[in-house]
Amino acid sequence: MADRAAPATPRSALELDAAAMTELVEAVLQRLHDRNAVDHPVDSSALADAAFLRRMIEGVPERGESLATVLDTLFDDCAGRSLDPTSPGFMGYIPGGGIFHAAVAGLIADALNSYVGVSAVAGGFMQIESNVIRWFLEFMGLPAGGGGFLTSGGSLANWSAVVTARECRLGENFGNGVIYASDQAHLCVQKAARLAGFARDRVRVIPADAQFRLPLAALAAAVTADRARGLDPFLIVANAGTTNTGAVDPLPELAAFAAGENMWLHVDAAYGGFFRLTARGQQMLKGIEQADSIVLDPHKTLFLPYGTGALLVRDARRLHQAHSATADYLPPLGDPELVTDFSDVSPELTRPFRALKVWLPMKLHGVGAFRETLDEKLDLVRYLHDCLAAMPAVEILAAPQLSVLAFALRHDGGDPGETNRRTRDVMTAINARQRVMLTGTMLGNRFAIRVAIVSYRTHRDRVDLLLEDLTAALAASAR
Ligand SMILES: Cc1ncc(COP(=O)(O)O)c(C=O)c1O
Repeated sequence: MADRAAPATPRSALELDAAAMTELVEAVLQRLHDRNAVDHPVDSSALADAAFLRRMIEGVPERGESLATVLDTLFDDCAGRSLDPTSPGFMGYIPGGGIFHAAVAGLIADALNSYVGVSAVAGGFMQIESNVIRWFLEFMGLPAGGGGFLTSGGSLANWSAVVTARECRLGENFGNGVIYASDQAHLCVQKAARLAGFARDRVRVIPADAQFRLPLAALAAAVTADRARGLDPFLIVANAGTTNTGAVDPLPELAAFAAGENMWLHVDAAYGGFFRLTARGQQMLKGIEQADSIVLDPHKTLFLPYGTGALLVRDARRLHQAHSATADYLPPLGDPELVTDFSDVSPELTRPFRALKVWLPMKLHGVGAFRETLDEKLDLVRYLHDCLAAMPAVEILAAPQLSVLAFALRHDGGDPGETNRRTRDVMTAINARQRVMLTGTMLGNRFAIRVAIVSYRTHRDRVDLLLEDLTAALAASAR
């Protein structure tokens, strides 16, 4: 009889035994510990230049190299020339997370090569993702009949939202459909509209008000004008936390307006949505529970590493309507009341097990750990705001609505160009000290320094370092 026992040693270079697996992971862990040191500088001065990028172009490796050499390329060459979004000093753009539990979840999910497309073949894993979606629906106050799925990030989630709204409100003939958003909406909304088949002139960009919110009166006027032209206004994309300033659109008013006009209300809450876990966030995001669909980015405000976004809808059947397709080679679908077949409600068939990155840290720490961390971010930005407001040389251009604010050097009239230049120089001087990393934006004709406090590793001591570096930069600027 043939010996069916597993061979004692691997038979291919691609198969690792237990000792080799351990050696590989431990070598990587050592590098990660070094990189993760709390005083690791957040250096934005040594980013990849053209010479480095040219050096990085490489042919197919015919033979393997040592692990140490390969890790040097990754950690020293690449990470050493990239911004570090895991640093507690990273306050630029919208900071990503990087909680280590989620990285371990990624290791487990990939090592198991877990499949989460069709429940008949991977019910337990799919129930974990279904649970994560149920939790997210509850976080947003959406009803039990709601649904959703995880995808790679806010951009693709917003795209599926636009496709779903198009399918459910306009059907096959959507050429006259019009989408409305403020000029503060994320650029991915424009992309989503184009990818969903809409011409550029079918997106109305409404100038935001002084608090960077979508003004209802201007929206209503645009909808009325479009109806008079024979067009089909069908979708409002509202913001629950803009990228620029963290602004939250007037969601209750928009929900009432959308209902009256039989339009779909989509809320891009990629950055802001999870603040609803906190009492203050619930107040700020009032009305989000009336949305037809919501985008969340766990890789922003649930502090996960990049690669996890979510689309939620108030009526789960809508996702099925927009995404469902069948084939003879697939097993039958499960009971949607019990578990979601994600291939049936989302664009992907074979999908990575993204939910594990949410599930593992939630199961280990409970939602309270996330709530407290988000609350801390709201406290920190409030503290920073009060300190900035007391500085005569500083002007706040966008007070925090969530955990982002924007400020500039005070402008005392005349051409703002000189003030903009000096503000930019102050930001450069702050970043040069490598203790915090800030990015800027234009708010009207003013250059603004943004502070986005999102990282789970940012605490009061780091905000004090920012204030110290700002004070030094302002003193140098005044000389
Ligand atoms: C408000 C908002 N919406 C959408 C996105 C796009 O999300 P992603 O980068 O995950 O695709 C972002 C990204 O910063 C964002 O801030």
